[in-house]
Amino acid sequence: MHTYRIAWLPGDGIGPEVCDAARLVLDAAGFDAEYCHGDIGWEFWRKEGDALPRRTLDLLRSTDCAFFGAITSKPMAEAQRELAPELQRLSRVYRSPIVRLRRLLDLYLCLRPCRAFVGNRLNYRDGIDLVMFRENTEGMYIGVEYPAVPESFRAEPGMEAIPPDAALSLRCVTRAASARIAEAAFRYAVTHGRRKVTAVHKANVLRETCGLFLDAVREVASRYPEIEFETANVDAMCMWLLKDPLHYDVIVTTNLFGDILSDLCAQMVGGLGFAYSGNIGDTYAVFEPTHGSAPKYAGQNKVNPLAAILAAKMMVEWIGQREIAWNIEQAVADVVQHGTVRTYDMGGTASTMDMARAVAQALPASHRPTEDQVNMRAALAQRIDSHGSKIEEMAGTGAVDSQGG
Ligand code: NAI
Ligand code: MG
Repeated sequence: MHTYRIAWLPGDGIGPEVCDAARLVLDAAGFDAEYCHGDIGWEFWRKEGDALPRRTLDLLRSTDCAFFGAITSKPMAEAQRELAPELQRLSRVYRSPIVRLRRLLDLYLCLRPCRAFVGNRLNYRDGIDLVMFRENTEGMYIGVEYPAVPESFRAEPGMEAIPPDAALSLRCVTRAASARIAEAAFRYAVTHGRRKVTAVHKANVLRETCGLFLDAVREVASRYPEIEFETANVDAMCMWLLKDPLHYDVIVTTNLFGDILSDLCAQMVGGLGFAYSGNIGDTYAVFEPTHGSAPKYAGQNKVNPLAAILAAKMMVEWIGQREIAWNIEQAVADVVQHGTVRTYDMGGTASTMDMARAVAQALPASHRPTEDQVNMRAALAQRIDSHGSKIEEMAGTGAVDSQGG
């Protein structure tokens, strides 16, 4: 019996490669888990009309948390064209499986730490160490959109100024969701010895939704007098982050602003090869490198696995194995500082698996893998590139609608 059961969702493109690299490090760090493969991604859209099949949702329900690699998503017309001929008539609509997962499992917090590792030549500035708390279930991402103004909206105040051929996207912000993301940010600040929380908004223009968000965050802030609290407009924030990134510590914001700002922050500490996130709810979480499937590098054992390795670190920390998490982060920090093993994005020639092995070797000696273990994992990595051989059929009884509920 293993201590933990992890849903393992490699997905498309470089997803399987970076997942294998993360596995190598997790095993070497002494994290004791059973990994259960789950189907997700473009192949399943094409063949089954569902990029997140019901059996995968059932698998998630039987595990402690999930680790997700990356998926390929394509525009609507292309998605329809690539669908298996027998599914073309069924009017299936492609939806991003990761966005669906966040909403279905109520993973309301998207946590994205951005730390400039010492010695990383890609750092925009040394010493950056900030943590983004992005609301993950509402805002501009609720998927309520209209290709033209619905007749029933016409009588609403202000609608007379909207041309009839306008497309509309609804933004939804609730007090409850704003308060819980704020609560998560302040609690984190207290438990992690952070000094300040900055709430990012655009309340001067988006008066209702951002106004409500700010109001809810302020209420939470008033209960944490020991943590400094400030607010910033999102546009000014982009400027200030570049000008003075060391000023910031914990940042809390709504979904779209958080999505944009976290990519900006990621680039300041090394780019997509270093950016990782946790989609976290009260009882379940999905951890992922932030990057996509990078099709042009798929199967080349070339991309940087540190984002995936750091996502694995975050998973281990969330599950409660703090020492193992700390060891993994320290090993990454050591490898980056040492600077001899660098993937192409870091200006080197090391492969994905070279980097993973270097991190494994930098772990404290007691957990270091034997030469055999390292070689075995490296060989395995070459074999697992398609979903085919690793599919584990999960019998499904889940009550969730296959299009996302
Ligand atoms: P991408 O993140 O896949 O790749 C963009 C570029 O970033 C790559 O060409 C590469 O130069 C670099 N890059 C990405 N990961 C890297 C790594 N680990 N190490 C070094 N360099 C790395 O974004 P792109 O090309 O816009 O999208 C490709 C596909 O991925 C699309 O189908 C998109 O929809 C999907 N996507 C999926 C995401 C997810 O699974 N969460 C997130 C973003 C995009
Ligand atoms: Mg993004």
